[in-house]
Amino acid sequence: MTIATPILFDCDPGHDDAIALVMAHRSPAIKLLGVTTTCGNAEVKKTTANALRILEYIGAGDVPVAQGCHRPLARSLVLGTADGPSGLEGSPYLPQATIKPVDQHAVDFLADKLRASPEPILVVATGPLSNIGLMILKHRDVLPKIKELIWMGGVFYRKSEIITPTEFNAFCDPEALKIVLDSGVPILMVGLDVTMQVLIEAPQYAELATIDTPLGKLVNDWLLFYEKLHRNSMGVGGAMHDPLALALAIDPTLVRTRPAHIGVDLTGTYAFGATVADFWSERGEKDNARIAHEVDADRFFKLMFDLLGD
Ligand code: RIB
Ligand code: CA
Repeated sequence: MTIATPILFDCDPGHDDAIALVMAHRSPAIKLLGVTTTCGNAEVKKTTANALRILEYIGAGDVPVAQGCHRPLARSLVLGTADGPSGLEGSPYLPQATIKPVDQHAVDFLADKLRASPEPILVVATGPLSNIGLMILKHRDVLPKIKELIWMGGVFYRKSEIITPTEFNAFCDPEALKIVLDSGVPILMVGLDVTMQVLIEAPQYAELATIDTPLGKLVNDWLLFYEKLHRNSMGVGGAMHDPLALALAIDPTLVRTRPAHIGVDLTGTYAFGATVADFWSERGEKDNARIAHEVDADRFFKLMFDLLGD
C-alpha cells in the first residue's frame, strides 16, 4: 500500500504545468494538499482560471486553489508566449471552472498549510518563485516545515545551442530566486539540463494515441499547441519541464543529482537571471541546492503515460 506524499504545488499553468497537475492528482503516491498560482506563462488571473478549470475537469475540484503574486517581487512583469493568450490554448472545449479560488493569498495559504502539517511537506514549484520568495520573507517560522522544494528552473550545463544561459522561471523573478537560494530551504533544482532531455516527439505521440480517453485527447491537444514554440525556435518537440519536476515527488530516482552552490545573476545585461553553479566550491560558498544533471527519460515517460492512462 503506497503511503501518499502530501505536497503543495505552486505553478503557472501553462501547458506543462497542466500536465504536471493532472499527474499529481492521478498519482496514488501524491496527496495534493493545495495548489497556488503565480504569474509567468500568463497573468496570474489566467493561470488561476486554468488551474481551477483543469482541477474541476479531472474531478479534483475539492483541491483548494489560492491565487498568488500578480508580478515579480522586484523586476517588471515578464509573461511567456508559448502557451498562448489564455495560457492554455489548444483545448477550446475545456470548460471554464465553476469553482472559485480560496479567499486567501497564496503566500498566506502556503504558510498556513505548512504550519498545520504535523510533518514537513514537499513543495513542488514549476513557475517563477515569487510566491515562495515572498512567503520566506513574510513567514520565516514555516521554513523548517518545508521538507524540500523541488523547483523546475535554472540551467547549468551549456551542452548545446538549445541551452540559453537563463531559464524562463529564473528570468521571470530572479530576486525571488535569490531569496529562496539564501533561505537554507532544501532545494532540488530541475533545470533545462534534464528537462530538455524529455521531449515529446513521434514515439511519445504514438504512446499517447493509445490512451483513448477524453483525458488522453486533452493532453494530446495541449501538446500539439505547446510544441509550436519549441518546434519553430529550436526544431525540437515540447519539453516536459514541469511534469519531470512533479515526477520527482513520486520517484526521485529518475534523476541523478549533485550538490552545488548556485548563484543567480541580478546585475548582468546578457545574463540577468542566469543561474550560475559552483560545483567545485571555488567561490568558497556553502552548497545551497542539489542539481539534477542526468535523467532516465524512458522511465520518466513510462511513469507519465501510466498516470495519464486508465
Ligand atoms: O523554462 C521552462 C519553464 O517555463 C516551465 O515551468 C514552463 O511552464 C515555463 O513556465
Ligand atoms: Ca511552469
